[in-house]
Amino acid sequence: MRVVEIDRFGNPAEVVRCVDRPDPVAGDGKVVVRMAVMSINPADLLMIEGRYGEQPTFPFVPGTEGVGRVESVGPNVTGLAVGDPVVPLAGSCWRDRLVARPEALIRLPSDVPLDQAAMLKANPATAEAMLTLVPLEPGDWVMQNAANSAVGRNVIVAARAQGIRTVNVVRRPGPVSDLEGLGADIVIVDDGSDPARLASAVGEVLGDAGVKLAFDAIGGTATNALAGAVAPSGLVVNYGLLSGEPCQVDPYHLVFRDVHVRGFWLRTWFAEADRSAIAALYARLIERLQSGGLTTPVEARYRLDDIAAALDHAARPHRSGKILLVTDAAAGADQPADQF
Ligand SMILES: NC(=O)c1ccc[n+]([C@@H]2O[C@H](COP(=O)([O-])OP(=O)(O)OC[C@H]3O[C@@H](n4cnc5c(N)ncnc54)[C@H](OP(=O)(O)O)[C@@H]3O)[C@@H](O)[C@H]2O)c1
Repeated sequence: MRVVEIDRFGNPAEVVRCVDRPDPVAGDGKVVVRMAVMSINPADLLMIEGRYGEQPTFPFVPGTEGVGRVESVGPNVTGLAVGDPVVPLAGSCWRDRLVARPEALIRLPSDVPLDQAAMLKANPATAEAMLTLVPLEPGDWVMQNAANSAVGRNVIVAARAQGIRTVNVVRRPGPVSDLEGLGADIVIVDDGSDPARLASAVGEVLGDAGVKLAFDAIGGTATNALAGAVAPSGLVVNYGLLSGEPCQVDPYHLVFRDVHVRGFWLRTWFAEADRSAIAALYARLIERLQSGGLTTPVEARYRLDDIAAALDHAARPHRSGKILLVTDAAAGADQPADQF
């Protein structure tokens, strides 16, 4: 089988390699999954750079998300059959085959679009989970930066499904009409240079209706911009390191406006949530996947062997969508592999 590995941290395009490893066999209670489509996320880049929240042992196979089909089933496996589309929960997905226990796989309906299924596990779940961090009622406002990210798009769709309204900040005009089409209530283009300007723009549009909850993927001064824009006692949740800068918050907001700031990591949320909440979350996402409501755009697809070029592409700003990795098993998937 072909596997993407790293044996040290560093610049992603320089430290990855695609190597041959022996084909796996489905042992007792396990299945072999033939991977078809895998996504490249900012978290994967952080992991390869050694900046993620866990330290892997080397050699390490990156790849948080992907989808494949069950290729063979070992003895004593129930509930899964050859051909079933599945999403591995454990990561290390950038390979053309992997072995897993059924309980470490999300089984999907047979007719799902594989591209979108490959992007199901982390970003849509993050959006859904973050919307539960404070009690929200229909009509309430949430706010977010990097709103055209995969997480941001899913926040818009998930919030709208609950009647929650969204203020969305993007750093360039390109994505505005797309986000409005998804159901964004307000989209503000702001380059982040003046946090006070963002707060006053939000105040002007929302008037007395304050923002209760804000999601920050960027850090640095962007955190402060959200802290200034939320209502008194509002919560700012930092969940990303896109700027590479420490979160800055003016104590004025913390002390005089009782603004709260916390972090969020899906892995911790999973560890603390009860099983039924996680199952209900993925049931909702699978329904949305089937109805066409999960739509993260794709900018390009690369073969696994072209992993270095794919990682270079994924690190570029102003992409129109995700970079996906595909194997031969993706043939017949929803889109042609335009980078073949
Ligand atoms: N904490 C968790 O559990 C968790 C889970 C999932 C994802 N995340 C985080 O969520 C964030 C978004 O991930 P994603 O996969 O949804 O992203 P994505 O689809 O790959 O999109 C990247 C987004 O980041 C924006 N961006 C990149 N660098 C930026 C910067 N320096 N300043 C402002 N905006 C910047 C891009 O804007 P342009 O289009 O203008 O370039 C784009 O909107 C990442 O930080 C990721 O690590 C966290």
